[in-house]
Formats: sequence, C-alpha cells, structure tokens
Amino acid sequence: MTSNPFNAASSQIAASILSADFSKLAAEIAEVDRGGVDFLHLDVMDGHFVPNISFGPAVTAATRRSTTAFLDVHLMISEPERYAADFVKAGADAMTFHIEVAPDPAATARRIRLAGCKHVGITLNPATAVETIFPALESVDHVLVMSVVPGFSGQKFMPEVLPKALAVKKRLRKDQRLEIDGGIHAETIRQARDVGVDWFVVASGIFDQKDRAAAIAELRQRLK
Ligand code: DX5
Ligand code: ZN
Repeated sequence: MTSNPFNAASSQIAASILSADFSKLAAEIAEVDRGGVDFLHLDVMDGHFVPNISFGPAVTAATRRSTTAFLDVHLMISEPERYAADFVKAGADAMTFHIEVAPDPAATARRIRLAGCKHVGITLNPATAVETIFPALESVDHVLVMSVVPGFSGQKFMPEVLPKALAVKKRLRKDQRLEIDGGIHAETIRQARDVGVDWFVVASGIFDQKDRAAAIAELRQRLK
C-alpha cells in the first residue's frame, strides 16, 4: 500500500473495510494489501445521519494496529467535529465530513484540523447540489463525491453524479484530490476515471469477490 495517496500522481484504489469479515479483520486487510490496494477507507456510521451503524474509534484503532496503511476515515455522522479528536487518536490519517451536517464547512474543516487531523475532506450525498460545497473547496484537501446514497455497501452506482464530479474536478488545485465512493467495480470505474476522479473507494467490488487479488488487478486494468 502507499504511505500517503496525496503523494501519488496516478489513480489510487482504496478498499472499504465495510464489506470485510470483521471476525478476521487483520487477515482481511493483509489480503487486500497483498492484492495491491493503495489505502484503506473506513466507513463510520452513526445510525442517525445514515440509517446504519457500523463502527467508530475502537475498530479504527484496531485497524491502525494491524496495518501501516493510510487510513481514510469517512464520517457519516451528525457531529463530525465532536469526534474528530477521537479518530485522530485512533490513527486516522484523513477524515471526510458531510456538507449536509456542516452549515459552516470551512469552520468544520478548521476544527477537524485543529483536532490534529492532517488531511481533511468534504463530501456530499447524491441529492445535494454540487454548488453547496464550492465555498468550502479552499479549506479542504480532498472532495468525496458519493455515487450511492450512503449507508450500505453493495448498492448500484449512480452515473448521474458524474457531472458533479467533473464540476468539482475543474475547481480543484493540483494538490487536492477527487474521490468517489459507492458502486465502484470493474464495470463502473472507468466512467469515474474519465471525469477526473483520482481515488476510487471499493467495498463489495473487492471483499465480496472470491478472488480479491484478481478483482483488484481487474480494477487497475480498467484504469489504464
Ligand atoms: C456507503 C459507504 C461506501 C461503501 C461502498 O455508505 O460510504 O464506502 O462501503 O460500498 P460499495 O463499494 O460496495 O458500493
Ligand atoms: Zn465511504
């Protein structure tokens, strides 16, 4: 895995552990590491902002103990600022908060940074207008465009978000990154690449496959 995907010029593939077998998380992570993913994506859900509950700082810390991989924490929670320090302590390298819960996103980004987070990202749901994040772009290191309604892995990719990704890409600086999350697999990854996405988050497209290494190789092949 790469130590920091911000330093990589080419497309990066992140494995979302949401679809991993949590009874053997360390082995699952080792397998996708050997299989060639670039970093890990951790989906934190609070049962309030999204209808599902996943995990929090404890599993993030356990993940940290099992790998040196870059940990990209996606906060699908109503109060991201309140928990930012806990996730920093748990070993998060990057944190992404939702615009839907941040009325003053520049302030939220600043507070998450003050909590010690090195890389701060902003994300938006498929139903949220892209213009809402424009004023915050200067304050963040990366932008995550959701290509499913957040809450569960294994949902169908929503191609209608691609123009949004393109609109964001046009406004990003060279040192910022564009990430996409939801329904990414061999059949959809290319469309996302073609609008300028840098980082591709994949849960079921890797962990639900019999041969994970082959699935990762196939994703990479489609990016060429
Ligand atoms: C969705 C999560 C995603 C999810 C992706 O709520 O934010 O990261 O794990 O799952 P797949 O790749 O299966 O769509
Ligand atoms: Zn996610």
